[in-house]
Amino acid sequence: MCGIVGYIGKEQAAPILLDGLARLEYRGYDSAGVCVAEQGLLHVVKSKGRLQNLCEKTDNGRTLPGCVGIGHTRWATHGEPNDINSHPHLSQNGRIALVHNGIIENYLELREALEEKGIVFTSDTDSEVVAQLLEYCLREAGSVLDALYMVLHRIEGAYALGIICADEPDKMYAARKDAPLLLGYGDGCSYIASDVTALVKYTREVSYMEDGEVAILTRDNITVLNAMELPVQKEHHHIDWEVSAAEKGGYPHFMFKEIMEEPEALRRAIHPRIKDGRIDLGNLNLTKEMLQGLRRLYIVACGSSYHVGMVGKYNIEKLTRMPVEVTLASEFRYCDPIVDDRTLVIIISQSGETLDTMAALREAKARGARILSIVNVVGSSIARESDDVLYTWAGPEIAVATTKAYSTQLAVLNILTIELAHLLGTVTDERYLQLVAELQRIPEKLDTVLESRETIQYYASQYFNHNSVFFIGRNVDFALGLEGSLKLKEISYIHSEAYASGELKHGTISLIEDGTLVVALGTYGALFDKAMSNVVEVKARGANVLALTTESKASQMKKNADGMLIIPDTEDLFLPSLGVVPLQLFAYYVALQRGCDIDKPRNLAKSVTVE
Ligand code: AGP
Repeated sequence: MCGIVGYIGKEQAAPILLDGLARLEYRGYDSAGVCVAEQGLLHVVKSKGRLQNLCEKTDNGRTLPGCVGIGHTRWATHGEPNDINSHPHLSQNGRIALVHNGIIENYLELREALEEKGIVFTSDTDSEVVAQLLEYCLREAGSVLDALYMVLHRIEGAYALGIICADEPDKMYAARKDAPLLLGYGDGCSYIASDVTALVKYTREVSYMEDGEVAILTRDNITVLNAMELPVQKEHHHIDWEVSAAEKGGYPHFMFKEIMEEPEALRRAIHPRIKDGRIDLGNLNLTKEMLQGLRRLYIVACGSSYHVGMVGKYNIEKLTRMPVEVTLASEFRYCDPIVDDRTLVIIISQSGETLDTMAALREAKARGARILSIVNVVGSSIARESDDVLYTWAGPEIAVATTKAYSTQLAVLNILTIELAHLLGTVTDERYLQLVAELQRIPEKLDTVLESRETIQYYASQYFNHNSVFFIGRNVDFALGLEGSLKLKEISYIHSEAYASGELKHGTISLIEDGTLVVALGTYGALFDKAMSNVVEVKARGANVLALTTESKASQMKKNADGMLIIPDTEDLFLPSLGVVPLQLFAYYVALQRGCDIDKPRNLAKSVTVE
């Protein structure tokens, strides 16, 4: 996934572009570039590595004149990260500049066809094909707009495009298909950006481009056309969160800030959905008849969002007795899923742009399923293509490793679970009220967990040098272990595995030797004794056990564990909501000790909008 920003107005463009790119860097950060138009020429500066290199090359944009420009921060898909492969890409005659997010799937055949016509390419990227093809089509077309439509009819794949032309310095063009792009409306200026964090400092009025749309931006207005080149009236949205929400605010890392924000984020996700002690999901059209008519319930997602689904499976099945199938989106879309009009598919995604998840949604919808999505980014593609959306309202999550989005997704899924049970009558009204009341206490219990972060930091200082870690647990503890393991892997680069404790003896226990670190999750009361026996099992083979358990079980667990992460007692349903935070903090502090780049781990991007 990459970050795109564009500006046309009365101010010098380059500083605005660089500032916007800095807020998009979490989308991809292996190279960056800007291009501005000035006195009939295009000036391009690109740089491998972090955006800071580009800022230094251009004195924070001050050396680049011009009031219209485009910028790009890259997560490489085709062509290694280097200056040449960075965006913006120029057409052969240097009169057109383009930035692209997505993948042009037929780029090789287009490139070969253009090379046969004498076009000379400079990069190894798929994106450059669009710039060269645009120049080529412009030879036949009467205008840049006509040429752009010719290009869009020929390229296949996902694209968000920003385009400027030396011969049209008073216009900027944009187009999108399967990759996010939004339009910003300013006073005497217009913007494009991959997401709203890049613009909120400059304008709070935005609209979201739809697939197939083309935008022509001038200083005074933005015209949007659909795939048939017919004008489209775009709905404007007002962004109401503060710029500071997308800034570190004095914290050392976005990830730490977002962990510390979790209690407040949970309050935002929960409290607007509780009225007089009962759940109110607004106009979510789920009825008892519809639920009773369901033949299957899928939860489909990727990464940490998938791990939320794994917890959800245990909770939904336990409370509603409805069978739940949790599937990785990248598997679901190619497994010829058994889906029809009596299937409910719950899609979970922080960004609402993950391509595998988007594709799975479309696959399910094409087969007649009803789509309910749990999403953080308002107006994102997944949100807009779902039948129902439950937003998590976590606010912008900048760190690549998700924390508050995971927690708020879990909270929203728990609310849905309780509501499903209530609709189906599988819980008594008294039990329903009990669960809702405890749900509302989770944010304050999370405050307690955060107060113990120094203990967690201590354990991280003891264990940061390990190169192989096991997370073991049963039931919801196993599902939670999946997320604890991913957090540690993705930011500290330590290999780890999450394992169902009962499965260890079927092979993997052979890997346990003197000093092996095992994070044993034992919060789920009904299987606590089993968890304890698994701790003894691995201790007997020399493991070092860091246990996660509840206050009421701590004294027992302490007899066998070497280290203790303790959370307040709560309903089984909510144990992962409390248990995930010590695991997030453990991963954070280990990565800190190892000097890793916590907010921008190597090889990763915040939302994966490629296959
Ligand atoms: C989480 O820490 C990872 N960054 C990653 O697994 C992420 O959860 C996954 O890519 C799904 O993203 P989404 O929730 O935006 O769809």
